[in-house]
Parts: sequence; C-alpha cells; structure tokens
Amino acid sequence: MSLKSFEKLFSGINFAGLHLGNRIALAPMTRVSASEDGLATDRMVKYYSKFASGGFSLLITEGVYPDEQYSQGYLFQPGIANDIQTEAWKKVIDSVHEKGSMIICQLMHAGALSQGNIYQEESLGPSEIKPKGAQLSFYRGDGEFPVPKEMNLQEIEKVKLSFVQAAKNAKKAGFDGVEIHGANGYILDQFLTDYTNHRTDKYGGSVENRVRLLVEVIQVIREELGDEFPVGIRISQAKVNDPDHKWAGKEKDAEIIFSQLAKAGAAFIHITEPKAYDPAFANSKVTLVELAKIHGAVPVIANGGLEDPKQAESLLREGFADIISLGKGALSNQDWVKKVTNKQELEEFNAKDHLLPIANIKDREV
Ligand SMILES: Cc1cc2nc3c(=O)[nH]c(=O)nc-3n(C[C@H](O)[C@H](O)[C@H](O)COP(=O)(O)O)c2cc1C
Repeated sequence: MSLKSFEKLFSGINFAGLHLGNRIALAPMTRVSASEDGLATDRMVKYYSKFASGGFSLLITEGVYPDEQYSQGYLFQPGIANDIQTEAWKKVIDSVHEKGSMIICQLMHAGALSQGNIYQEESLGPSEIKPKGAQLSFYRGDGEFPVPKEMNLQEIEKVKLSFVQAAKNAKKAGFDGVEIHGANGYILDQFLTDYTNHRTDKYGGSVENRVRLLVEVIQVIREELGDEFPVGIRISQAKVNDPDHKWAGKEKDAEIIFSQLAKAGAAFIHITEPKAYDPAFANSKVTLVELAKIHGAVPVIANGGLEDPKQAESLLREGFADIISLGKGALSNQDWVKKVTNKQELEEFNAKDHLLPIANIKDREV
C-alpha cells in the first residue's frame, strides 16, 4: 500500500468540536508514574510530549481518579480531584499543546477493582459481589479483590458529583475534553454488567437500568459544563479481570446502550475490543464499532489491534469509525505517525521492553 492509500488516516477531521490534523489518537494507558499523592510529574510531561511530537493528533490520558474517596484504583495513579492535582496537569497539557496536539482527560472510578487507594481501604460497587480474577501485580496488586460495599443512593449521587467536579477541574486545567471511563470492568462498567450488578432499584435489572448511571454521569456533566466542552465515553465488553466477557443480549443490548449514551449527549463513543475489526458476538457479522455508529450516531473512536496502518486505514474506510486509537502499538512506536508517514518500519510491541511500570524504572526513556 502506498502512502496515498493512507489518505483517510492522515486526513484532518473536526472531531467532537476538536480540529485534528489526522485520525490517530493515543489510547488511555495507566502508567502509575504520578507522585504518591496523585500529582502529574515531569516524567509524565515527557511521556505525553513524545506522542505529541510523534504526530498523534489527540492524546487520551491514562485513567485519572476523580475524587479523594473511593475512586483511586492504583498507587501512583494521577488524580484530578483537588486544586493541586488540577494545577499539576497544566505542565503536561501545555507541553502537548505546544507540539500541536489535543489532550483529553480520561476520568476513571475504579469501584470494586480498586487495588491501591491512599484515601480509603474499602472499595465500592453496585452490589456486594467479589470481582472475578486477581489484582494486577504489574500495578503493585496482590491476591484476590475484596468484596466491595454495596453503594446506596447517596453514594451513587456522590460518584456523579465527583465526575462533575473532576470534569470542571479538567476544563480549568486546560484539557480539550474528558472521556468517562465506562469500560474495562471499572465502576460504571460494573453497573452495566449483569453479573456484578444485582441491584433491584432503578440502577439494576434491565439493560436500560444498568446503563442509567453512565447516562446520568454524561447528563450532569453536560448540564454543568455546556456543549462547548466535549464529554465522551469509553465502552467495552472485555474487562481487565474478565477479558472474554460478552453482552448477553448481543445486538439488542448494543442498541439500547449506544442509543441511550448518544441521547444523553455523549460527544463521542470510544469503543475498545481486543480486535476492533472482529465481529462483536459469536455468530454475528457486525463489529461493536459498527453498532456504536449505527445506534449512537455520534463520532466513534475505534481501539484494539490497529497498529498495522493498513488495518487502521481499511477500518476507517468502512465509515463507522471516525478516528482510531493505539495502545500497545503506540508504546512501541511513540512516533507511529511519523514512522508511517516516512515509510519507516514499525517496532513490534513486546511486553518485556514496553510494558514495565515506568515508576519502577529509573532513568528509563518513557
Ligand atoms: C499498559 C496499559 C495500560 C492501560 N490503561 C488503560 C487505562 O488507564 N484506561 C483505559 O481505558 N484503557 C487502558 N488500557 C487499554 C488500552 O487503552 C487499549 O484499549 C488496549 O491496550 C487495546 O488497544 P491496543 O491493541 O492498541 O493496545 C491500558 C492498556 C495498557 C497496555
């Protein structure tokens, strides 16, 4: 494929009100390289700046915790819950903007998957159900997850307000938007998932009820911050602690989930699947990206296994995704965009070299 064949990837776009020079975003990746009290560090300035210099037109930050209570998932995770944390992000944002890229803050409440929290020992979840799997040792976790405390309605309200406050902080810091982390098994996905949510109130039971909290979080942020500041959401079937999970109601669930999120005012939907181009369900032909576009009718980011530019280009050409995001492929090629433009060979991702928690590695180039 000649460079001309990548014209979709390299074409500019007005995405959720942001003018992007190409269709390539950095996927959110937790790097546990903040200070212990959740402040963005110089190491993080260097980390994000490299992707901006490398040509990614949009960077989505690692999951950032929104409150000083239950939301922190990992030790050395950055927060945006107070003024000092908010201020600390400015040097990251300024550096990225100077290099001509945009940067969106991913707001993540870990809920029952919290495994390192400086504010709270207990964890919260929709129901008192022990999460599947084990804590990630890669992020200093050890053993099984504790059983979370079932949230009451006041605690649900508090979580909503913390997302609003964090979004306000993100705007104040200079971020170009926020992405609500509704994916990968964290608190909002715990509400969405049938086996972690056994509630009998308006937040449990039907898919409409299980998606309600995600919808309300978008709505309250939109009410507070208006239309100018993009508020998107990330959705997946797979979870960090259950990678093979699929929605029981398949296409029907997808229709309800995506149409509700779009109706709530989501500025974009970021879909992550292990392989974005694979069918979403067994015996089905459609991808989750396709379903998000059809039922959501909002800009869509596709993520998962798209580091081969031919694959990324052909997915964009199908017309369901507006931009793509790269995780592992970006870690091994922080200048992926430049390399593809210059027809240089891409480096293969390998966990040994590219996945070590950067906080543990002295003097390592990030
Ligand atoms: C080290 C690492 C950390 C991650 N942290 C986050 C995170 O904080 N938030 C999130 O939504 N996804 C996170 N992910 C998932 C990635 O954003 C992405 O969905 C996944 O790596 C699949 O995309 P890829 O095939 O391009 O790597 C993480 C992935 C990796 C490899």
